[in-house]
Order: sequence, then C-alpha cells, then structure tokens
Amino acid sequence: MDPIRDVLLDAPLVRDRGGDSLQRQLLNRIRDAILDGRFPPGCRLPGSRGLAVDLGISRNSVTAVYEQLGAEGYIELNRRGTKVAALGRSRAPTTPGRAAPLRLALPQLSERGTRVVSRFADAAETLAFKPGVPALARFPLSAWKSCFDRAFKTAGVSALGYGNPAGEAALRDAILRHLAVARGVRCEAGQVVITEGAQEALNLCVRLVTNPGDTAWVEDPGYRGAQTAFQCGDLRVEPVRVDSAGLVVPADAWTAAPPRLIYTTPSHQYPTGGVLPVARRLALIRQAQACGAWIIEDDYDSEFRHTGELIGAMQGLVPQAPVMYVGTFSKTLFPALRLGFVVLPQALTAVAAPLLKETLRGGHRHEQLALAEFIDSGQFSRHLGRMRRLYRRRQELLRAALAQHLDVPHTVLGGDSGMHLTVRLPPEYPDQAIAEAARAYDMAPAPLSRFALRAQPEDNGLVLGYGNTSESQYPALVQRLARLARAQRLKG
Ligand SMILES: Cc1ncc(COP(=O)(O)O)c(C=O)c1O
Repeated sequence: MDPIRDVLLDAPLVRDRGGDSLQRQLLNRIRDAILDGRFPPGCRLPGSRGLAVDLGISRNSVTAVYEQLGAEGYIELNRRGTKVAALGRSRAPTTPGRAAPLRLALPQLSERGTRVVSRFADAAETLAFKPGVPALARFPLSAWKSCFDRAFKTAGVSALGYGNPAGEAALRDAILRHLAVARGVRCEAGQVVITEGAQEALNLCVRLVTNPGDTAWVEDPGYRGAQTAFQCGDLRVEPVRVDSAGLVVPADAWTAAPPRLIYTTPSHQYPTGGVLPVARRLALIRQAQACGAWIIEDDYDSEFRHTGELIGAMQGLVPQAPVMYVGTFSKTLFPALRLGFVVLPQALTAVAAPLLKETLRGGHRHEQLALAEFIDSGQFSRHLGRMRRLYRRRQELLRAALAQHLDVPHTVLGGDSGMHLTVRLPPEYPDQAIAEAARAYDMAPAPLSRFALRAQPEDNGLVLGYGNTSESQYPALVQRLARLARAQRLKG
C-alpha cells in the first residue's frame, strides 16, 4: 500500500459541503497531512491525472491545488513531479502516512500578564445588583439614533478614515465645555484625549508617565481596573488604605515608597463611597508636586450626586496641578459605547503629542460626532438629570429595604453619589460565599473583599449596584440576601 495515497483517498471528497468546494477539501487534506507530518519533506505526491481519476474530480482542480500549495511553499513542483518541501520542522516523522503527535508547548504568559488576577466571576449585565451598570432600559435610544443618523449624513464617508489620534475636535470641545460647568475642570481642548473608555485612559496614563518598576499607589480597597492597568504596565502596585472619606496617605509613605503614579477616586471612592475633603485633596496635590508624582483622578460616576451640590473635580483646584483627569461615558450613557477621555495637564500635553500620534489611531468617528451633538444639544444634560433623579430614588428605596429586611449586623457605606451602595458585614458573614450563593437567585453583588489588595477584616461586605436593578425588586432581593447571609454565617 502507498501510505500517501491512503491519506489522500482516505475518505471521498463531498460535494455541496456547506461552502467547502472539492478543491478546498483536497487542499486542506494535503496541507493538514504536511503540517502534522504524515507527508514528510521529500515525499512525492501522486501525479495530478491519476489522483483526479481516483478522487473523481477534474484534473484542473488537482492542478490548481498543487499550484496553490506550491505558491504557499508546502510543495515543490518541477518536471519530475511534486514533492513535499522542507518546512524546517524540528521533528519530522520518518514514516509517511503516520501522524506524529504534535507537541504544543503550553503558552507562557508574560510576567506582567500572570500578575493580573481575575477576581470576579463573569456576570450578565442583567443580573440584579451588578455594580457599575447604568439603567440600560432608560437610555434614550431614539434620540441617540437621531444623533447617530445625523453624524452619518453630515460626515458621511469623510469620517471613515483615520481620525485625529486624540479624538474628534467636536467631541473634545463638547467635553471641555461640559466639564468646565459640571465638574469645574480647567483645561483647553488640546488637553482632552478621547479613549476607548476609562480603561484605555488608564493604560495611556501609564504609558505616558511611568517606567517599568515605578511605584503606583492605588486605593485599597479600590478599583480593580486600575490595578490591572498598572500591573500590565510593569508597575509596583502599592496599596494605600482608604477611610470613610477616601485615600489616607500615611506621612512616612512619601519617603518609604515614593510614587510615580497615584490613583484615586476622590469624588466617590470606589467602592466604599467616601468623598475626599478639600484639605486632603490639596495636601495630596502638594505632596505629589513635591515628589514629582502624577495623580490619576478617576471621576467615573460623580455626575450622579445625591446630596448637596456637585463636588468639583480635584483637577480644577490648583492651576497646573499634576492631575490626569479620567472620565467615562460607560456610566453616564452605556458601557458598550466604549468612549472615555483623559484631560492631561497642559505641560504634559505638548511633550505627549508625538507618543499620542504614534500609539492612538482615532476611530469610532461617527460615534464621537454623534456624542458631540448629544452633548451640545443639551440631551446629555437632560439624560443626566433624569438618571440622577432615578438613581437617587433607587438609592433611597434600597436603603429603606436594607434597613427593613437585612436583619444581620451591617453598616451601609457612602452613597452620596453614584449607582451603588456598599454594605459592610462582620467577618463571620463571608462575602464571597454569600455573593456566590446569590448567583443562584440571579443576583451579582460584588464581594467587598475582592476589591482589597491587602484585605483587612473590615473589607467584608457586598457592593450592591442599583443602577440597572428596578426598585420594585428590592424588598424581595434583600430578604433573599439576608437569608443567604444567615445560611453562610461561619459558626464558632
Ligand atoms: C472606578 C471605575 N472607573 C472607571 C470605570 C469605567 O471603565 P470603562 O470606561 O473602561 O468602562 C468603572 C467601571 O466599572 C469604575 O468602576
């Protein structure tokens, strides 16, 4: 028997096999046999005429397959026939027709990649209490569609090419105007860089101002996305504790572990909900200036302030503050939009321009133009107003449900802004077990301990996102959580 022919004639080629022509089937059969070693280098393939007869296909098809394999370098064709080329494989089997087991080395992730630990189980946006999800059903889809249609009509094909790496001028201007009024951010349009959500803004900050091995301070407990961005940037991530008002920097930390980067959520600490008082903000800016550190101010959901006046951004407190102000439309509009931005300090903007140009590409241009119109036409502010009222009401009702139905010892943290409440539980109520058990009831609260880098006993509780969970469900859901908490309670 000829082992080569055995492989080639192993099974008939099948007509009408969902898009795979006879020619493509033969091509794949030979290519696979060469790649997995059944057709070793130097072995001869049968003549096209005989093979065509044996397979019941036209000779032209076989010739076309051989030519294609020749063009790709799998076989060599010459007057004396067709033979398999040497592919430089390290282990070629010697017996034609017998497949050598392919030894695939396990992929080795980069060191920085292995440092990133995924701490949250995937959860659908629709699960109750999932943090960070806005009220998706309340998004004004038709108004958004009109802005989108107009962007397509007006910009048309001219916005199909690469855009300005820092984003569409119209959107940068719109953001600048909005931030000046709503957040007290001081900047010029040139300082605004549009990014693919806050996450890309964080990555960009790392690229702009850090070197591998630099120290980044992160709030502990804090936002996992920031920790991930810094770990991927080869930074030494140094947890800094938060109290009920936010980041607390121990006096000796500035000399013990001087930072290059400081990540903070001063207007609404994520996830414990504190608001950093102005004196602590000013002290942080002063100290950062003195030691040459940059602050990332992540202002992810402070547009939804529920008590008193809006709290201005840290960025606008001091002229030339070393603050990179990061914002996102994931909370104010919807996460899949993947649009966010960073406002760079003016001094950094000029030196960053070449790097921005080389590393960003300027895409999603119609979305950006639609968003610019959505903001400029006042629809963004109106939507924010509606959502603020909705979240305020949802928060009040969730607080009431917790007070009435969560009959295990607990403390509700923060809640002056945003779309979540954090409920601290005593350590004998293990948050991860409760959160896991809640999945069976279509709930996805996040365990507080998962936000901690150096977990303390008080980092135990549940982060309850109420943005996308209807208030009518709160009593039943909280009763269920209370039952789960009691069932998971550690004995002894
Ligand atoms: C603290 C914080 N910052 C930023 C974001 C938004 O990230 P992105 O814009 O990448 O969706 C989130 C989302 O959950 C967040 O919790």
